[in-house]
Amino acid sequence: MFKHIVILTGAGISAESGIPVFRSETGLWEQERVEDVATYEGFLRNKTKVHDFYNKMRQSIKSKEPNPAHLALTRLEQEYPISHKNATVTVVTQNIDDLHEKAGTKNVIHMHGELNSILCEKCGSRYRYFENSSVDSVCTHCHSKSLRPDIVWFGEMPYHMGKIELELSRCDLFLSIGTSGVVYPAAGFCEIAKSAGAKCVEFNLEKSVVGSRFDKGIYGKASQTLPQFVNSLICDEIEV
Ligand code: APR
Ligand code: ZN
Repeated sequence: MFKHIVILTGAGISAESGIPVFRSETGLWEQERVEDVATYEGFLRNKTKVHDFYNKMRQSIKSKEPNPAHLALTRLEQEYPISHKNATVTVVTQNIDDLHEKAGTKNVIHMHGELNSILCEKCGSRYRYFENSSVDSVCTHCHSKSLRPDIVWFGEMPYHMGKIELELSRCDLFLSIGTSGVVYPAAGFCEIAKSAGAKCVEFNLEKSVVGSRFDKGIYGKASQTLPQFVNSLICDEIEV
C-alpha cells in the first residue's frame, strides 16, 4: 500500500483532448522555433509574436475537454485518501492548459506556469487572465504596460520547486504520464523519487528516453491505460 503518491504529467496526457504535444512530427516545436516563442530572449526580440503565440493557445484551450486520463487522476485524488488513511496524492504538471482543473483535480502544481495566468514584469503580480495580452495591456495592480505570458521559458526557474522536491522526497509511488523526459528538472524527478525509495512507473505511447530508469512501463494511450491502473491502485491490486 502506498502512502504518498506523486504524479508528473506532460503534454501526452492532453494529446487525446486535442491539444498538440511539443515533440512529434506534427508537434508545436516543428511549427515554431523554441528560441523565438519559449525563451526570454525571443520575447525581447518580438514581444507581439510571443503574446500572439500564447493568445492563440489560450483561446484554443477554451473548447478543450479533459479525457479519461485526467478524470482517472481526479478519481485517484478523491478516493485514494479515503480508502488509505492519511495518504496524499499530488499532481505536478508541466502542462500550461487547464484540463486537470476542468477534470476536477484540486491539488495541481503547475511547474511551467499557466495559459490562464499573466505575469507583470514590473510588480511581479501573477493573476488569472483569460483574454488576449499585448504590449499595450495594462497590469491590474500597478497599471504599467509590462505584462508577459505567465509561462516558464527555457532558462527560467520552474515554479514551486521547493514544494515539489519535498513531495518527491517523501513519496513512495511516482507516476510519470505522457512526457518525453527530455526537459529538466522534471526529467530528473524519477531519480529523486527513487532515492526516496519510491516505486516509479512510466505511462507513455512507447518507452521514453528515460524509460529504463523506471521500475515499470505501461505503454499505450493514457486514456486507456490510466483508468485501469487507478482502479487497481484504489483496490490495492497493484504490483510494481
Ligand atoms: N498517452 C500517453 N502518452 C502520450 C500520448 C498518449 N495519448 N500521446 C503522446 N504521448 C507521449 C509522447 O510519446 C511523448 O513522449 O507524450 C510525450 C509528449 O512529449 P513532449 O511533446 O516532449 O511534451 P512534454 O514532455 O510535456 O514536454 C516538456 O517541454 O517545451 C517544453 O515546456 C514545455 O512542458 C513542456 C516540456
Ligand atoms: Zn504590475
